[in-house]
Amino acid sequence: LELQLNIEEIEKGGYDHFMLKEIYEQPRAILDTYRGRLLASQGIIKMAGIDQNIEKFLNANRIIIVACGTSWHAGLVAEYIFEDLARIPVEVEYASEFRYRNPVITDKDVLIAISQSGETADTLAAIKLAKEKGAFVFGVCNVVGSSIARETNAGAYTHAGPEIGVASTKAFTTQITVLTLLALKLAKEKGVFSETKFHEYLAELENIPAKVERALQSNTVVEKIAEVYKDSTNCLYLGRGYNFPVALEGALKLKEISYIHAEGYPAAEMKHGPIALIDEHMPVVVIATNRGHYDKVVSNIQEIKSRKGKIIAVVTEGDETVRDLADYIIEVPDTLESLTPLLTTIPLQLLSYHIAVMRGCNVDQPRNLAKSVTVE
Ligand code: G6P
Repeated sequence: LELQLNIEEIEKGGYDHFMLKEIYEQPRAILDTYRGRLLASQGIIKMAGIDQNIEKFLNANRIIIVACGTSWHAGLVAEYIFEDLARIPVEVEYASEFRYRNPVITDKDVLIAISQSGETADTLAAIKLAKEKGAFVFGVCNVVGSSIARETNAGAYTHAGPEIGVASTKAFTTQITVLTLLALKLAKEKGVFSETKFHEYLAELENIPAKVERALQSNTVVEKIAEVYKDSTNCLYLGRGYNFPVALEGALKLKEISYIHAEGYPAAEMKHGPIALIDEHMPVVVIATNRGHYDKVVSNIQEIKSRKGKIIAVVTEGDETVRDLADYIIEVPDTLESLTPLLTTIPLQLLSYHIAVMRGCNVDQPRNLAKSVTVE
């Protein structure tokens, strides 16, 4: 037993928990995921699984994304990316709902299944169903040789390395990385992107690991914020556009490991319900980066403030407006709007981590949860 404990300590590489180690591995994991695929100076994205099946993607009527949990949130981010950049219609489905609702699928559909473990039973069943109906099925998995990787027609691995913490972190950001590469490649092939725009995206993707590194420096301020709100019983997460799925993911992380009830909402939907919950005891985490709907999010923040809610805002470095309104601000570097989720996610992972540690929770193995869910 002692030997086993020591091995575990070594595997944690000096971090207190696997989750923290995996959060800090993200700059490297993202780099590993695009290494050899993103050839920015040549203006090329190389992905064998797509190159060999490019016609399937270009002729697709739509893309259907199926996944569960955090992978489903990556799918939601991908919906924004595919529609915005590549102009391909996308639907994102919980695998468990998709498989049982007699979905309309044809051989003109491309189904993308996203799964860290590659073993999630519902996602696997959704793939089998789509294949039976003639759809082309593409997998985005982390575990090499997993059931989903084998069952799909083609795919692209995330190269996040083993993820041990039950709450998914680096799998999420690397899934978004793969899906961004895919969307950019399709945008280029379809001719909906100018050369200049394409090059701008490739160059900025190369900057992302360094920017994630900078986002990780928010750790000190995030720890202070965690200290203030660790005894909260509820927490609301708001974001719009590309950062709406990030709000969902932030809330899921907090629920999973700290057992605090948390809800993620599109910021504008707040007035249709959650606003009733806001009082001086309610922390509201708002993603308010300067790209995309910034002014709208600022007015959402004012609405929270006038109801005495506590505002924790994730903003772009140098932001002045939200600084004056929020109780706490967390800065992340500026980037292209579609890449902001890769940065805004980081402090939310850290926030849930610190709160869970302060509450004495088992961060790496939260109660009732499993790393891979192989039963329905
Ligand atoms: C479980 C895990 C989550 C994960 C989800 C989907 O609920 O605890 O972290 O997001 O399954 O898993 P997958 O391996 O398919 O991405």
